[in-house]
Amino acid sequence: TVGNSANIFWHECPVGKQERQKLLNQKGCVVWITGLSGSGKSTLACSISRELHSRGNLSYVLDGDNLRHGLNKNLGFEAEDRAENIRRVGEVAKLFADAGLVCIASLISPYRKDRDACRAMLPESFIEVFMNMPLDLCEARDAKGLYKLARAGKIKGFTGLDDPYEPPLKCEIELSRRDGICPTPGAMAGKVVSYLEEKGFLE
Ligand code: PPS
Repeated sequence: TVGNSANIFWHECPVGKQERQKLLNQKGCVVWITGLSGSGKSTLACSISRELHSRGNLSYVLDGDNLRHGLNKNLGFEAEDRAENIRRVGEVAKLFADAGLVCIASLISPYRKDRDACRAMLPESFIEVFMNMPLDLCEARDAKGLYKLARAGKIKGFTGLDDPYEPPLKCEIELSRRDGICPTPGAMAGKVVSYLEEKGFLE
């Protein structure tokens, strides 16, 4: 059996991952960006994608907020729904990596066990990037006005306020302020792309 389903079989396609990777001149992987709302995940994801594109590498961004308009539109923000959200995006990211792309997933993904379950799907090619930005900075930005609504009690269970965020105990890349100054998205993207180069994901 596969998963929970009896009488379901796996069909292997003769065009494999190696062939696709050769065509694309890169190795499929998942860059998983985690952090508080307003920490700059989506901006970083787009900046990495732009940088990769300009050096001739194919990537695709899976943005938590965007996916909640379609694939995950039936999910809320309870712990179980967030877990299902992360599980689905992890599975989709795995498919993109199997397609040979650098898949950039950008989700709060507040629970360590949910992120670790995604890592376990792709242990050799999962790059966890922690946007370690302090809550007061994220709240001061409040680009969508959600912190304000949450403080006013109009959103319950808002990450960082009345819902938990578990920072990674160990991650491949941690991005934070230095001497109170935030690196630019371009500088942070550069760091991620250099890491991918060093680890041999980009030819
Ligand atoms: S999660 O926790 O990984 O399932 O969340 P994600 O799919 O990344 O979606 C986060 C965006 O949803 C908006 N939003 C909330 N965030 C946190 N807590 C609550 N209760 C909430 N309600 C709505 C918010 O715009 C998040 O977007 P980002 O891009 O992170 O700011």
